[in-house]
Amino acid sequence: MRLRALTVAATSAAALLAASSTAMAHGGPAYHPPSDSLRALAAKVGLRVGTAVTPSYLDQQAYASIAADQFSTVTPENEMKWQVVEPTRGTYDWSGADRLVQFAQQHGQLVRGHTLLWHNQLPDWLTQGVANGTISDAELRDLLHKHIVDEVTHFKGKIWQWDVANEFFANSWDPHPLPDGINGDNFWVQHLGEGIIADAFRWAHEADPHALLFYNDYNIAGEDGTNAKSDAVYNWVKKMLAEGVPIDGVGDQGHLDLQYGFPTKMRQDLQRFADLGLKVAITEADVRTFVNNATEQQPTDPLAPYAHANYYDEMLKACLAVRDCISFTVWSFGDSYSWVPGFFTGEGYADIYDVNLQPKPAYLALQEQLALAKGAPHRPGPGNRGPRH
Ligand code: G3I
Repeated sequence: MRLRALTVAATSAAALLAASSTAMAHGGPAYHPPSDSLRALAAKVGLRVGTAVTPSYLDQQAYASIAADQFSTVTPENEMKWQVVEPTRGTYDWSGADRLVQFAQQHGQLVRGHTLLWHNQLPDWLTQGVANGTISDAELRDLLHKHIVDEVTHFKGKIWQWDVANEFFANSWDPHPLPDGINGDNFWVQHLGEGIIADAFRWAHEADPHALLFYNDYNIAGEDGTNAKSDAVYNWVKKMLAEGVPIDGVGDQGHLDLQYGFPTKMRQDLQRFADLGLKVAITEADVRTFVNNATEQQPTDPLAPYAHANYYDEMLKACLAVRDCISFTVWSFGDSYSWVPGFFTGEGYADIYDVNLQPKPAYLALQEQLALAKGAPHRPGPGNRGPRH
């Protein structure tokens, strides 16, 4: 009896030791999510399930608990964007992003950094200076270089994947695509030329050689009916790799809308990026539909909840089927926190928890799909830069 007790004690001590060494790697106590949580189920196939987080909402207990329990990677929804980190020229404010990185470390989560080079959410001092001519294109380039190096250096060693460049490719409705499909109206392309995208990857790589560097965009995994945008990104990234640009992955945002059919080429499009030797990820999944109002967000179509769950399920399945799809991130998890009602009049119900933070059928669909995913190929993750480099 005593021997058994000792054995149990020794085994527990060994388990504790193992747990604490893992915890030390993350800089906090070991964290044990519920065994039926999305993150625990996904871990069995080496997939990270993530969410966008607004750090200030972590003060809300229910929000923080779900963020910690259900997800194994987090993305700051806005707090690493240039507008937020350098609101006044030369003065950085990392407080929101630092808070989230610390939360992630406490809960054994990895962080997706978002985003270094984008035409939106730039500081007013920057866009106004460019518009009124006090910031020349040469100075703009220097400012961007400093922004990328300073931000990547600040978070060095703490970021798993960086969305280095975001939304550079033209949609079918954009009037001035360049011959390779890049949007000729993009702020950065207009001022610095399209070569600036590759430079951003080079600068980020120099500042943190271990972070996985992603190109991130929407409608690039079958959502665009002709698949032209996906083709353009595919050709561009292939060319960049041939030129030795340090790109490690392509992220499809995954902002879907039930009024359009499910993108049936999603798996194939993710796979062909992976076949270039890249990681892939679903980086901002949500599925919007028409709702009664922005507060309650009840779908106007009674069948919508079923279709909504099905779209999430299909998106996850596309990722699971591709071994190099290393993370599946939802763009916030509760409808009352979603960007959708503010951007698409009359739409909402986009997330996997409702406005009262109760799990929706879509949550259950993801949970069930992950539980069934035993046969899916195990991801190579969590890792950082692979042998290709
Ligand atoms: O923080 C300010 C606040 O101080 C101010 O009073 C208020 C007044 O408008 O604005 C607040 O900023 C808002 C910010 O979100 C933080 O809540 C901005 O107006 C609002 O435009 C901004 O929206 C974000 C949007 O990007 C900007 O384009 C969304 O939260 C965010 O979810 C969304 O995320 C993007 C990804 O980064 C890239 N892919 C598409 C995705 C959805 O648009």
